Amino acid sequence: MPPTAGPAIDTRGLVRRFGAITALDRVDLAVPRGAFFALVGSNGAGKSTTVRILTGLLAPGEGTVRVLGENPRKAGAVLRQRIGVVPDFPVLYDVLSPRENIVRLSALRGLTREEAERRLEELAVALALDEHLDQSVRSLSQGTRKKAALAAALIHGPSLLFLDEPFEGIDPVAARGIRNMLEALRQRGVTIFLTSHVLPLVESLATHVAVIDEGRVLTSGPLTEVVGRHDTLERAILEALGVPPDVPTMEWYLP
Ligand SMILES: Nc1ncnc2c1ncn2[C@@H]1O[C@H](COP(=O)(O)OP(=O)(O)O)[C@@H](O)[C@H]1O
Ligand SMILES: [Mg+2]
Repeated sequence: MPPTAGPAIDTRGLVRRFGAITALDRVDLAVPRGAFFALVGSNGAGKSTTVRILTGLLAPGEGTVRVLGENPRKAGAVLRQRIGVVPDFPVLYDVLSPRENIVRLSALRGLTREEAERRLEELAVALALDEHLDQSVRSLSQGTRKKAALAAALIHGPSLLFLDEPFEGIDPVAARGIRNMLEALRQRGVTIFLTSHVLPLVESLATHVAVIDEGRVLTSGPLTEVVGRHDTLERAILEALGVPPDVPTMEWYLP
């Protein structure tokens, strides 16, 4: 299959074990090009492991993985040019500023300094990062760091973007900046693969959803199909997970 055809991401029978723990158990995922795909699930469900395998950081145990038609463990630099990643751990050197970090990364991705600076100015305005570009990353709030990491993931104009919990631990203003950027990227046809616990946000952004629990995909498909007969994505997911959604009655509790 040529790299320009077929789904953006395709995994078949993906298994990954860590000692006695089966982090991923026969995971099949298909992400169409241009989709905004959200992988949701509880802590320890296997979301970050999936992202690490898809971005080539971790080898799968069993199964096949294709990202833009290529094996992420073998494709190397060519594929890295076409994907952007915001992992769940800090990626920027904290003694440097966002500008220094991003200009260095841009050079690795083949951009001239002038081009990197030009793009960075535009990204910084869009993400309300401009006042922080020259402060050390260490001195920035969590939300500003996430926005800087997002700018770093976008500077080379990737067609596929991975974000592992981009809304974790950040304030609503920063979350809004990230959200608006993701909307803009989706509108220009960028494929987005995101993990998140924030279900209302997922419901308002995603076109496709997969629910993972203990390494197994419980349900996946277009958002409207996954929500199905339920009022909200949250209710659909709680049912898929077998969690009773009702408020506890606690009849004995009479404040
Ligand atoms: N490097 C590792 N070594 C051992 N266990 C790991 C490692 N990475 C993940 N795990 C385990 O695999 C499971 C899935 O983890 P993870 O993919 O990080 O979940 P999530 O991102 O959904 O919270 C968890 O039980 C976790 O403890
Ligand atoms: Mg995780």
